Amino acid sequence: MSIYVCKVCGHIEFEAAPENCPVCFAPKDKFDNNNTVFTDAMEKSKEGAVKHIPVVQVVQECGLVPEKPCTDILVRIGETLHPMEDKHFIQFIDCYVDHKYVSRIMLTPMVNPSVVFHLKETGSKVQIVEMCNLHGHWMKEEKL
Ligand SMILES: [Fe+2]
Repeated sequence: MSIYVCKVCGHIEFEAAPENCPVCFAPKDKFDNNNTVFTDAMEKSKEGAVKHIPVVQVVQECGLVPEKPCTDILVRIGETLHPMEDKHFIQFIDCYVDHKYVSRIMLTPMVNPSVVFHLKETGSKVQIVEMCNLHGHWMKEEKL
């Protein structure tokens, strides 16, 4: 599958570049085709995989919004927790359902690299993409 990366905000789109980035609204020409963005990160930082690959847990019943059908996607960055320091931290965590962009959560060094997405609509698989300011993009996919 083709991968397109927004040069402005780091957002990733699958299959085709959008007319405008759904995160920062940059136009299509700001997207670069880079099908190896995830494998490049892994090659550059093999020993770092344990700190960068998202750990994703799917909970079918939402504890926070039980009155609406809601699937919770619990994410933490790394089996070994990624550092959150001024010079080295996770900048954002993006959620996709069947490779369609759903939501971004921005992070700063003031929080742990862990988030929850409350999905109203489900699909067959969820993809979680995270961006480390030093070590690039990493992805994990889980069945819904
Ligand atoms: Fe990192």
